[in-house]
Amino acid sequence: MSVAASGAIPLSEYHTLGLVVYTSRLLLPQTEEEVPELATSAQFILGEGSNILPLRDLPPILSTRYLRGYRVLQEDSSSVEVEIAAGENWDAWVRLSLAHGWYGIENLAAIPGTVGAAVVQNIGAYGVELAPFLVRVRGWNKSLEAWQELPAEACRLGYRHSIFQTPEWQDRFIITRVTLRLKKRYEPVLTYPDVLRRIDPARQHDPWHLYETIRAIRAEKLPLWGSAGSFFKNPVLSLSELKRLQQRAPDIPVYPQSDGTFKVPAAWLIDKAGLKAYRIGGAQVHPNQPLVLVNTGQATPQDMWSLAQHVRATVREIWGIELEPEVRAIG
Ligand code: EPU
Repeated sequence: MSVAASGAIPLSEYHTLGLVVYTSRLLLPQTEEEVPELATSAQFILGEGSNILPLRDLPPILSTRYLRGYRVLQEDSSSVEVEIAAGENWDAWVRLSLAHGWYGIENLAAIPGTVGAAVVQNIGAYGVELAPFLVRVRGWNKSLEAWQELPAEACRLGYRHSIFQTPEWQDRFIITRVTLRLKKRYEPVLTYPDVLRRIDPARQHDPWHLYETIRAIRAEKLPLWGSAGSFFKNPVLSLSELKRLQQRAPDIPVYPQSDGTFKVPAAWLIDKAGLKAYRIGGAQVHPNQPLVLVNTGQATPQDMWSLAQHVRATVREIWGIELEPEVRAIG
């Protein structure tokens, strides 16, 4: 039977920013069959809450984190198609796939959150993103009161974006299963300078070495507790927008994209605006990775929100760039 607690339930275990907030009801389906009924009472749908900023006490929440398991749907000599329950922890899944000899997602090691949330955000790191591995998702559509299977194209994955973040789908579609196609041949992606620098050439063919290397890079930059990862997306600019920015910031690193746009690091814009380690109350711009806003221990939702607004306003004023949040503020 599902767990469906009521009262003032602390959300400390159900989001990663470590803020003191409560929910009136916590709905925790343990099987897919329990989802439709529990979903009717839920206002927000979460995985492990690694990408949310709760602004106040919240109405009923459903978390899919206890939907577990996986099964192989088909395989041949070069690839495997595997269906994973949405509540599986993403990083545990990466390790499990390596243990099976299924490759492609090593660079996405140690990203917090669930497999379902990985799709919602189209997670990406160190030159790899989830999109090319996605085959389909299955989930409960609250508006249609029906189960739906959506092929990858219908999920419209882009840079830190999917259809599941749009108003029509957000909190209305509960992803319960994700199908990925992984490779049986290990072809490491070593394009990212940080990764290339760290890889021991003698161990280039060892996927666990790449996995551990990525973990180590992340551990140096990202806090262990009290964050929701990157708080903002890296801005993607047209050529004319880039030229305008370069008049103010001639030294900014630029990453040309295949569609003719240009990605620039938000961390650079925040850093060079002098905001590294800037604090409001218990909320701080992380000193090692300024794209991350961190709860230093006693931050309130208001501290986090004010800091995010301050960073946005400062970047707008100095660089003329509007930072788009990656973290979802709820409540
Ligand atoms: N930079 C600075 N100052 C700093 C740190 C970084 O100027 O103190 C500049 C440098 O130019 C550096 C650039 O920012 O080269 C990029 O920094 P980093 O490699 O740390 O990556 P990022 O663009 O800030 C993105 C993702 C991360 C992902 C890393 C690695 C987004 C929003 N974030 O960060 O994803 O781990 O690349 O690929 O795209 C997340 O989404 O939560 C997340 C952590």
